[in-house]
Amino acid sequence: MKKIAVLTSGGDVPGLNACIRAVVRSALYHGMNVCGVHHGFEGLIQGEFVQMDASSVSNIIHLGGTILKSSRSEQFKTKKGRKKAYRNLKQEKINAVVVIGGDGSLQGARKFTEEYNIPFIGIPKTIDNDISGTDVAIGFDTALNTAMQAIDKIRDTAESHDRVFVVEVMGRDSGYIAYGAGLAGGAEAILVPESKADLTHLEKTLQQGWTREKSSIIIVVAEGDETGGAKEVSELVKRCLPGRYIGICILGHTQRGGSPTSADRILAARLGVAAVKALRDGKKNVMVGMVKGDIAFTPLKKIKRHHLKLNKEVLGLLEELAS
Ligand code: ADP
Ligand code: F6P
Ligand code: MG
Repeated sequence: MKKIAVLTSGGDVPGLNACIRAVVRSALYHGMNVCGVHHGFEGLIQGEFVQMDASSVSNIIHLGGTILKSSRSEQFKTKKGRKKAYRNLKQEKINAVVVIGGDGSLQGARKFTEEYNIPFIGIPKTIDNDISGTDVAIGFDTALNTAMQAIDKIRDTAESHDRVFVVEVMGRDSGYIAYGAGLAGGAEAILVPESKADLTHLEKTLQQGWTREKSSIIIVVAEGDETGGAKEVSELVKRCLPGRYIGICILGHTQRGGSPTSADRILAARLGVAAVKALRDGKKNVMVGMVKGDIAFTPLKKIKRHHLKLNKEVLGLLEELAS
């Protein structure tokens, strides 16, 4: 393996830079030539290659975003687009590509490898944490902590002014952040896309809180929940608790940025180095993940969406703690 490329694709997450650094430094350490591709798959198509050396990744380990930039590429979804990408990779004499991406990007990588014989190694990143083949994806821990810290801050006002707050977190199809931040932030109710909200139960919880004279009530809702999100939930709460102040806070992209936590940096380092090791060992078209603390490889064609499981233990926990 002489020359490899590394790119970031899909939505940005904290920890991408730490991972780029790990891939570049490890590849150089093992005598490979490394180039970065700007703007993900779109950059493969447009030929946005940049030579990387050890200093290209200096002082980025703590930074959010991605020095390589990212994109969503409609062209890469077409045969014509992927052909252009292949031609550029050949022209640059690149033998393998490391894709740091989410579920979509890993599907894109799989498609490409079904058509062309250039090995791709995937590294999972997503604040939604909804990729199979890994217990956790890069970016999730930081996003979760950002959401939890926001809830802590909102709690101060809620408690001081006897208010109810509905906090909307990210997750179009995933309740991982809502569930984790709600539990860690001591929320009274958590609404996630994976289960239909039990509104009668929610009403009961609110009424109980009211009669117990709970001074603050916090409800966490994922943006993709079928209720519609914070605005819709606040209307519902208004009907249950007339006269009570109900605040809304939509955290949005604050959860995608910022300095990565130590957990995300360590995960990024381990997965980045493992991706380069996979290539050195002649592995191709796999995603490198972390399963029960160990590095695990899953063929790209087996990667699928992973969903939060809300079993009785998980649901019961919340009910007991919010009582
Ligand atoms: P993420 O990787 O964060 O899930 P997206 O779902 O937007 O983000 O996917 C990122 C990019 O991956 C898309 O813009 C597209 O270029 C590529 N991609 C996604 N799905 C496919 C697919 N089925 N075939 C080819 N390329 C795909
Ligand atoms: O998939 C990650 C994610 O942050 C989702 O939680 C969110 O719904 C979506 O991306 C937002 O994407 P964009 O930044 O393109 O609006
Ligand atoms: Mg739901």
